[in-house]
Amino acid sequence: MQSTLTVLAGSALMHDLAIVRDASTDMTAFRGAINRIGLHLAAEVSKYLPTYGLEIDTPNERTNVSKLDGHLVLLPVLRAGLGLLEPFLTLLPHSSVGYIGLRRDEQTLEPHTYYNNVPSHAGTWTAVVLDPMLATGGSMVAALDSLALKPPTCILAAALIAAPEGVERVRKAHPNVHIVVGAMDRGLNERGFIVPGLGDAGDRLFGT
Ligand code: PRP
Repeated sequence: MQSTLTVLAGSALMHDLAIVRDASTDMTAFRGAINRIGLHLAAEVSKYLPTYGLEIDTPNERTNVSKLDGHLVLLPVLRAGLGLLEPFLTLLPHSSVGYIGLRRDEQTLEPHTYYNNVPSHAGTWTAVVLDPMLATGGSMVAALDSLALKPPTCILAAALIAAPEGVERVRKAHPNVHIVVGAMDRGLNERGFIVPGLGDAGDRLFGT
């Protein structure tokens, strides 16, 4: 299966991307903009969720409709992924939530897992991994690898900003994943930060 990639567009989204990229944006405004961009990401992700068809009665007549199929689990990558959880729950309130704790080593840029709590359940399920930054792709690959014991039937990954090399790494390691990003930036600097990017999303979200 070929991995697919969607890069979002739109005036309101660009406005909020400008806010989060601006180094002078304070924590409160940063959080607000992340939340709104998260709504755009959630709306796009929601287009690719599995559905099933059924017949129902409207007040006027019987008609064919579709509903979301299977169990949906949102998986924010700690810490920064927490900033996307609320907007995704706003659009997909019936989702379960699991947490994947990863910290990227500042020297090697490799991710280290410090927490993993993915809800288990019977039957088919869809996983949506949330992380604002997809830089080298190491964290996203590690998060997706951690689902191998009980693989989801459908997997999506949502990021605010991505670097092309990170997206390529995820697509190679997990060709079945649909990736949705708010923007595709130029690349990575010598410290492994996305450029132009927005800096450290976790630090800016949580004031550290
Ligand atoms: C940042 C970011 C991603 C990861 C991206 O997290 O939130 O999780 O790095 O980098 P990668 O694609 O090169 O793996 P960080 O490790 O700084 O942790 P934090 O969210 O706690 O700030």
